Amino acid sequence: MRPPSYHIVVLPGDGIGPEVTREAVRVLEAAAEAFGFRMTTEVHPVGGAAIDARGDPLPAPVQQACLQADAVLLGAVGGPSWDHLDRAQRPEAGLLRLRKALGAYANLRPVQVPEALAEASPLKRNIVAGTDLLIVRELTGGIYFGEPRGQDHRRAWNTMRYTREEVARIARVAFTWAKRRRGRVASVDKANVLEVSQLWREVVAQVHREEFPELELEHYYVDNAAMQLMRDPRRFDVVVTGNLFGDILSDLAATLPGSLGMLPSASIGRRVGLFEPVHGSAPDLAGQGKANPLGAILSAAMLLETLGQEAAAQAIRRGVETALAEGVKTADLCWAGERPVSTEVVGQFIANYVRQQTPVTP
Ligand code: IPM
Ligand code: MN
Repeated sequence: MRPPSYHIVVLPGDGIGPEVTREAVRVLEAAAEAFGFRMTTEVHPVGGAAIDARGDPLPAPVQQACLQADAVLLGAVGGPSWDHLDRAQRPEAGLLRLRKALGAYANLRPVQVPEALAEASPLKRNIVAGTDLLIVRELTGGIYFGEPRGQDHRRAWNTMRYTREEVARIARVAFTWAKRRRGRVASVDKANVLEVSQLWREVVAQVHREEFPELELEHYYVDNAAMQLMRDPRRFDVVVTGNLFGDILSDLAATLPGSLGMLPSASIGRRVGLFEPVHGSAPDLAGQGKANPLGAILSAAMLLETLGQEAAAQAIRRGVETALAEGVKTADLCWAGERPVSTEVVGQFIANYVRQQTPVTP
């Protein structure tokens, strides 16, 4: 039998994006070797890098390549050199267009606090240790995309808008994950103020009642959810919310493991998924070998899981745990007295770990 073969489009992007994706690709290559699948990669510019090279944050051929890939691995986009551009010309616009083009409406952002990291958290160990939650963020709707939007010399306006169908499909994703996990969904909205949130709440409750009555559903207002995430993060299993609230809550949740650099994400909808760390391009860190590649490496694990390579994905996750337990980590995860290692050393450690997992079967 021929080994399965995957074609991955890699979009390093800006700032620390290239450094962290390089390590993620290193780990993917090690996984391919150890677990007996083939992988081809194709690298393209996106965001600011694509603006500089081709005058467009998502050039048409790049979008085309993504649509034809088996999966897309992205670093990060944005930076001060492009901040003066109009919204539609900015690096971020390229990323938003890509999510839309891929139909990637479900953004999965798992947040875990392994024992080895509880000390790196700005919160107390007894509050955060053992946290294991999954943020399911709606990614192609809401105020990010709602019309009308615009501005004139006096005002600016945006529209937060959801259809029943958009809410129902993201709710199904959340319940389906909850079923595989601890069976609990927290839906986050602002239904005490916003009509769009009242619809959100009503539709999530209906999907629960009609399709997943065996699971537990709670509703939170977003302000309270933010507080509970810090006070008692272990109460959460799956958190489902709209685009803007999900953006904010996921950065907030990133304080739990102590660094935004840890968090991976998968954006799924149609055939091709988009996998990217939650962190941004961190221009101040770029090019110094200081960036934490774990968000990107764990995104690569999510990519492999989505392609059906679960054993390889597990091996990568164990590699990450081992690196943390042995203190092989970048400065963002170190506390007083600990010695940080470089981005590359972390990547090499995990790649070596993965390569030793399973003997290659001829
Ligand atoms: C994220 C980022 C993006 C978002 C930006 C870069 C457009 O913050 O993936 O969370 O707001 O979705
Ligand atoms: Mn964000």
